Amino acid sequence: SAIPVLTIDGPAGAGKGSIAGMLADTLGWHLLDSGAIYRVAALAALRRGIDLQDEVAISALIPQLVIEFKQGDAWLNGECVSSDIRNEACASATSKIAALPKVRSELLALQRSFCKAPGLIADGRDMGTVVFPEAPYKFYLTASAEIRAERRLKQLSEQGLSARLQDLIQDINARDERDSNRPVAPLKPADDAVLVDTSPLTQAEVFAEVLRYIR
Ligand code: C5P
Repeated sequence: SAIPVLTIDGPAGAGKGSIAGMLADTLGWHLLDSGAIYRVAALAALRRGIDLQDEVAISALIPQLVIEFKQGDAWLNGECVSSDIRNEACASATSKIAALPKVRSELLALQRSFCKAPGLIADGRDMGTVVFPEAPYKFYLTASAEIRAERRLKQLSEQGLSARLQDLIQDINARDERDSNRPVAPLKPADDAVLVDTSPLTQAEVFAEVLRYIR
């Protein structure tokens, strides 16, 4: 029988990553952080000084990269790049290369290779629509841009980093706009996804809500 996949899509900062991690731990399933894959590819393009609109050059670069995940860290060609990919400059570059159809198709097989028994939690923008359209469980998490920016600010300050809320709101809106309006695999809920507005909910409440649907 098919390996079950649970997809969690939604905009930046909706809390997908935390919920996906909690579900993977609770169910003992594998975890795909597809955004991290796009971020590592963007980092490689940035480092080589490739124009972020050069679809041919970036899609040709991808097969040369060794992208791996070990113990929660992201690796590029044998180098741990977890901290290098977690900043707004990399996030913004990522949403630019993620709009390029050939880049997306080059990254499909790697994403699908995460689907192994006993199951997969897949976190991203197009998990339920493009990468795992047959998934039996699909969720789409949202929250207002303000709330998502506040959560990001809190995450950053926990890491000892600072930022201005207004800047974060702007970054998030710009990224949502690019992710939602691209012609290929735009950010949108699958027709059969359960929508969860997390604005008024705590993380524990969102987690309970998702578990309620799958149990
Ligand atoms: O989820 P995260 O914020 O790490 O994703 C970074 C960027 O990668 C997103 O803004 C989006 O442009 C891109 N992405 C994507 N498709 C996915 C996951 C991420 O286009 N499945």
